[in-house]
Parts: sequence; structure tokens; C-alpha cells
Amino acid sequence: MRRLKKKRPLALTVNGEPVEWEVEPHWTLLRFIRDELKLKGAKEGCGEGECGTCVVILDGRAVNACLLLALQARGGELWTIEGLGTPERLHPLQQAFIERGGIQCGICTPGMIMAAKALLDRNPTPTREEIKVGISGNLCRCTGYVKIVDAVEAVAHGEFGPS
Ligand code: FES
Ligand code: FES
Repeated sequence: MRRLKKKRPLALTVNGEPVEWEVEPHWTLLRFIRDELKLKGAKEGCGEGECGTCVVILDGRAVNACLLLALQARGGELWTIEGLGTPERLHPLQQAFIERGGIQCGICTPGMIMAAKALLDRNPTPTREEIKVGISGNLCRCTGYVKIVDAVEAVAHGEFGPS
């Protein structure tokens, strides 16, 4: 006999807005964000917690959305890269990544910036070492990391305004 999957209610806030949805129990948070909410910033790279392209912020912590079920975000406060700035008014981290050369192909960038944001939210004045640790779960195949760390450091020093 084939079992019908039953969707479950999911209520949370996404980028400051209340969202109510019905999700299947096996959906990952990343699938929910990308395929249901159509927020395409977070990427699926490895799908198994190794690359960081899917990083979003849930209840103040940088998390790999590919490793969580959507239902684990129930009642939570979720932020994705789409909630950070607008094309007209970029977030300081977005501006710094552009100006300091922390972006090349851009695949890693949304996850990298969300990891950096979570770091700066809990530690606004990190050392360079702490920045490296803060983004250590995020792989970048293009930049060599130095310019990414430079960008985060510049934001921590207030060079791009309050973060
Ligand atoms: Fe989630 Fe790689 S896609 S860590
Ligand atoms: Fe290409 Fe980081 S800019 S992977």
C-alpha cells in the first residue's frame, strides 16, 4: 500500500515577516527556502554540511540549511541573504565584499556573508583569527579567502558603517 505524505503546518518569521506554510516532514530547510519561498540566495552545493553555500541564520546562529528539516525551524527567526540589504542599499558586508574583492564567481558568497553576519552579531570586534574561525565552515574555490577576511575585518572596523 502506498502511503500518502501528510503535510504539517510550519509558522516562523523569515527576514522579519511572518510566514505560515504547509511542509512535508522530510523537506530540508534549504528545500523549503529555495523551492517553496523562492529565495534562491542560499545554494545547494554538497547537500551534506561540508561546503557552507546553504548557510542561513536561524535564531541568531549560522546553520547549514541542507542539514536541517524545515520543521526544525518551527517558531524560529530565520534570516537569509535576501533579508540583509537591497540593491539600492546594500548591507555593509555586501558592500565590503564587493569593494574588497571578496567575490569572484559568487557561489559561496550568500553563505559566506550570512556566516560573517552571525559572527559579527555575537562578536562585533573579532580578531582576524576569529574571523577565519567564524567562516571556517564555508568553502570558497576562487578567492583564496584573504580578501573575504579583509572584507569582514573592514566591516568590524566600521569602515562600511554599522553592521
Ligand atoms: Fe549545505 Fe553544502 S549545501 S553545507
Ligand atoms: Fe567562487 Fe567563492 S567566489 S567559490
